[in-house]
Amino acid sequence: MNIPFGENLVMNALFDSFQQRGVTFRNRIGVSPMCQYSSQDGLASDWHLVHLVSRAVGGAGLVFTEAAAVEPLGRISLGDLGIWADEQIPMLAKIAKLIQEAGAVAGIQLAHAGRKASSATPWAGGSPLTKAEGGWQPLAPSAIAFNDESPVPTVLTLEGIESIKQSFIQAAQRSIEAGFQAIEIHAAHGYLLHEFLSPLSNHRTDRYGDSFEGRIRLLTEIVQAVRAILPDQLPLWVRISATDWAEGGWDLEQSIALSQILKNAGVDLVDCSTGGLIPSVKIPTGSGYQVPFSDRIRQKTGIATAAVGMITTPIQADQIIRSGQADIVLLARELLRDPYWPHRAAKELQVDHHQYPKQYQRAW
Ligand SMILES: Cc1cc2nc3c(=O)[nH]c(=O)nc-3n(C[C@H](O)[C@H](O)[C@H](O)COP(=O)(O)O)c2cc1C
Repeated sequence: MNIPFGENLVMNALFDSFQQRGVTFRNRIGVSPMCQYSSQDGLASDWHLVHLVSRAVGGAGLVFTEAAAVEPLGRISLGDLGIWADEQIPMLAKIAKLIQEAGAVAGIQLAHAGRKASSATPWAGGSPLTKAEGGWQPLAPSAIAFNDESPVPTVLTLEGIESIKQSFIQAAQRSIEAGFQAIEIHAAHGYLLHEFLSPLSNHRTDRYGDSFEGRIRLLTEIVQAVRAILPDQLPLWVRISATDWAEGGWDLEQSIALSQILKNAGVDLVDCSTGGLIPSVKIPTGSGYQVPFSDRIRQKTGIATAAVGMITTPIQADQIIRSGQADIVLLARELLRDPYWPHRAAKELQVDHHQYPKQYQRAW
C-alpha cells in the first residue's frame, strides 16, 4: 500500500512491492551477498542451493548470490563462487529457478577481488595463501599491499584492465543465461573496482587514475558495457563503499558524484556499504550505521538505494523504508541467524498481505 504524504512524495513500507524495470520484488527485504567459501573450481554446490533457496522460502523479496568471481585470479579464496566458465552456468541456473519458484527475485553479484585475492578461507585464518597452498599473485591498480602480511600486487597494464572488463561482460552474459533477474557489480569492500576508485589504492597516472574521472573510469566503462548487453527489463545495481573512513580516501562526496554518473549510465540502484579498503581504520559501527549514506545518496541524486549493515529488527527495517532512507534493505548476518526473518517480520508488523509458502501456511 502506498501512503501519500506531502505534495508528491509517496511513502512505502517494508512489505510493499518494489518495481525496477520489468522486475517486481514482492517486498523490500533482500539477502545481502555473502561468501560461503564452499565452491570447488568456482562451481555452485548443493550447499549454495540449500542456503540460497531456503532464504527465498523464508520470504525475502530478493536473494543475492555471494560475490561470483569473473575470473579465477579474482577470487578471494579457492572456495569462491565463480562465473568465468560456461560449466558454472547449469547449477546457478537451477538455483536461480528455485529462488524464483519460491517467489523471490534471483540476483547475482559479480566481483574481482583485486589485491585482496588469494587468501585462506575465514575459518582457516584468512591469511594470504602461499604458492604451496595454491596461492597466486594478486592484481591491482597500483603496487600497494592491503596490509603488512599481504603480497605487493602486480600493477594491471592497460591490456590487463581491458581483459578484466571483458571478463565482467562475459560474466554478465552468463548471468543472463543462468536466469538471474538482477545483476550487482561489486565495487565495494576494498576489492578491485573499489581499489580503482580510492585515491589511497590508486596511484596511477594514466587514464585509469590521476583524477576522479580517471579513478571511476573502469567502473563506469564496465557499467556501460554490461548495461549494453543486459535486456532492458533487467535492473543493474552497483555496490559501493560510500566511504573509506580514512583521511584522503574515497568519501561520501565522491560517492554522490559517482552515483549521479552511474544513474546517467543506466544503473538502477546504488547499494550503500562502507569500508574494507584500509584495514586499520576505526569504523563507528552500530545499529544501522551505514543507513545515512544510503539516505544522502538517495536524496542528492534521486537514484534508488539499498541500505545494509546491522539492520536486524523489523521495526528498524520498516522505518528505514518508510522514512525514505532507502528503497530496499539488505540483511546479511541476521538472515544467517534466521532464514525465516521476513515471515517473522511480517507477523510482528501485522502485515496482512504477506504470502507464506502454501506448504507452510498452517504454521502461521
Ligand atoms: C559471511 C559473510 C560473507 C560476506 N560476503 C560478501 C560478499 O560476497 N559480497 C559483499 O558485497 N558483501 C559480503 N559480505 C558483507 C554483507 O553483504 C553485508 O554488507 C555485511 O555483513 C553487513 O550487513 P549485516 O550487518 O546485515 O551482516 C559478507 C558478510 C558476511 C557475514
